[in-house]
Amino acid sequence: MSSAPAPAIPPAGGGAGPVPRHVAIIMDGNGRWAKRRHLPHLAGHRQGAEAVRKTIEAAAEMGIEALTLYAFSSENWRRPEDEISGLMSLLKHFLRMELGRFHKNGLRLQVIGDYRCFPADVVDMLDDAVAHTAPNSGMIVALALNYGSQRELTEVARSIALDVRDGRLRAEDIDERAIEARLDTASLPPLDLLIRTSGEVRLSNFLLWQAAYAEFLFIDTLWPDFDGETLAAALDVFARRERRFGGR
Ligand code: IPE
Ligand code: IPE
Ligand code: MG
Repeated sequence: MSSAPAPAIPPAGGGAGPVPRHVAIIMDGNGRWAKRRHLPHLAGHRQGAEAVRKTIEAAAEMGIEALTLYAFSSENWRRPEDEISGLMSLLKHFLRMELGRFHKNGLRLQVIGDYRCFPADVVDMLDDAVAHTAPNSGMIVALALNYGSQRELTEVARSIALDVRDGRLRAEDIDERAIEARLDTASLPPLDLLIRTSGEVRLSNFLLWQAAYAEFLFIDTLWPDFDGETLAAALDVFARRERRFGGR
């Protein structure tokens, strides 16, 4: 028998200890949070940004290596224009306010998704923040912006096709690693825990490949109400899960 292909997931017993290395969150429920308070949708996003700040701080304290936050999906362009521009302003405000704290706490900012079609000033701020925090050695905060997993995987297919066409890769050498190395998340640890807030039970085009062996946690908390305590409770649930990776 020829040698087994390299596994794309950690072997049983390997990977995460009790604290997940990589947590990703689908931050959902801002609109419903606002609606319950008879506030405009954007007020929910504003409070959501505050939850982002608290969650980043708590995650870093808990020893998580990477926190990936779904902030804007490739499908969110279907929202009203004023909501989209409000989200862009909030993102700029967040970067302006939080960059200092990122440095103080040694955090690194990364972006996944096609954020380059965002307004030029947002792209510049993101590129600056990523470049300036790259030398830090603490937790990675990966913001998913204009992210869609199907498009990410489509780009992987295109990149592999071009490499095969131009002789950089042989078709018979295409394996899980060739795909993983081309994902937006290539530099992040394997995904251990995927949380979605607001009670919806779907992935909405988020980390489809990466979630292959992640633990899922769907909670009713609306994103603006999420904080360090909610994260600690999620990590408790994770610690009690038995991960097998197909073994026994
Ligand atoms: C999630 O909250 C934030 C983004 C998608 C940017 P929503 O705005 O989707 O809130 P709900 O789902 O309408 O409550
Ligand atoms: C998913 O939430 C995207 C983000 C949290 C950024 P949505 O609210 O856009 O997802 P659907 O439309 O309910 O699936
Ligand atoms: Mg939603």
